[in-house]
Formats: sequence, C-alpha cells, structure tokens
Amino acid sequence: MRPMRLYINIDHVATLRQARRTDEPDPVAAAALAEAAGADGITVHLREDRRHIQDEDVRRLAASVGTVLNLELATSDEIVEMACALRPHQATLVPERREEITTEGGLDLSRPSPRLERSIGRLRDAGIRVSLFIDPEPAAIAASRSLGVPAVELHTGRYAHTWRSGSAALDGLRQAAAEARAAGLAVHAGHGLTYLNVAPVAAIADIEELNIGHSVVSRAVLGGMTVAVREMRRLVDTARAGAP
Ligand code: PXP
Repeated sequence: MRPMRLYINIDHVATLRQARRTDEPDPVAAAALAEAAGADGITVHLREDRRHIQDEDVRRLAASVGTVLNLELATSDEIVEMACALRPHQATLVPERREEITTEGGLDLSRPSPRLERSIGRLRDAGIRVSLFIDPEPAAIAASRSLGVPAVELHTGRYAHTWRSGSAALDGLRQAAAEARAAGLAVHAGHGLTYLNVAPVAAIADIEELNIGHSVVSRAVLGGMTVAVREMRRLVDTARAGAP
C-alpha cells in the first residue's frame, strides 16, 4: 500500500498563545518539532476572525517549513490574495462561519459559486495545488471533479462523532474515497481524528493524506506536562535556595 502522508495542524498551538495574546507557545517552533518527529507537512487555517493563526504566523511558516505547508482558507478575497503571494504548496478551501467552534461541514457545492470558482482559479494560477474540503457524498465528489481541482479532503466529522456506535460512517468514507479516486481526484481526509479512532481511516487505501490537529496538540500538552513542571520546580527551588 502507498504510504499515508501525515500533515499536522498546529492551529491550537496558536489558540493557546492567543488566550494570552503573548508570544508563547510559538506555532512556528511547534511546526519545526512536528516536522522533526515525522510530519510530512504542516497545516494551518487562517480564519477570517483570526481566532488562532495570525497573518504573521503564516508568513513565518511559509519561510520556515521544510516539508510542505497546507493553508486552509475560506474564499475570502483578502486571504486568497495572501495565499497567492505566499504560495504554500497546497491550499485547502473550507467553508467558514464565524459562530462555529470548528469547521462543521464540507463546502456547499450544491449550486454554482462564482466566488469559489474565482478563488480556485486565482490559487491555481499562482501555482498552488488546490484541495476542496467536502462531505463524503457522491454529489460533492462529482461537483469537485467538475471544478477541475486535483484533490479533495473528505470531512471525517461524522465518522469522528459516531465511530463508537457503528460502522456506517466509516463505510461511507471508504465508498467516497473510492469514488473520488476513481474520478481522478487525490483523496485527503481529516477532522476529529484522534489516537482512538484514526486507525480504520488510516487503513483506507484510497486516502493518501490525513490532516490531524486538535488531538495531537492535546496529547502534546499532556505529554509535555511532566517535563514542564519539573523545569519550573527546579527554577523556583534554585532561586529560593540562593536567596538571602
Ligand atoms: N482538515 C480541515 C479542513 C480542518 O478544517 C481541520 C480543522 O481545522 C482539520 C482537518 C483538523 O481537524 P482536527 O483539529 O479535529 O484534527
């Protein structure tokens, strides 16, 4: 079987930083660590409300990522323009609603969208590989094919919400991946994948790229807690011992 590309989404490193509007933790440093640990690419979502990743993060990542950068973005003219200037390896177009907690569904491709077509054209003309974030549905796959993009990312949210109680969503993903690949599209997948539910999706041969964020950042916080507390303990104790 072809190896699976694993792209790590580091948005929530920036979420933690933005909670204090300070300079730590730095998503660019997190990207370098992710790459050193085996990530095939780094994914960030520059949202219109800039709730986590900031413009400057994307500029710094575009200059520093040694693997590839996958920029998720909505069809906002301003952000498409920025992507065209920075030229990440890949741009994944996603729907965006300000009130949502995260990207809660794939793009609505049920009717023509001049805005979407314009965004795809501008990104493609800038030499960027374009992927569309879609629900794992036949109509969305057919529409993506008509739009002439090389790749789609299947939204795994339904699977992530229901995997404990049955295999319908996994079967749907498998079917959608096969259909998309048969239609000549490269197939990516992501959203809500965790250490507990990733294996069956990683085993789908028609999928070639996974984008995983929240669960990895969550694990990193817990995995790093022991080292972090020990270091602070030592600093505080050393300062105390040396104080008059
Ligand atoms: N793929 C896309 C298109 C996304 O919008 C997101 C969330 O930003 C992800 C993958 C990663 O999802 P998660 O953080 O749940 O792993």
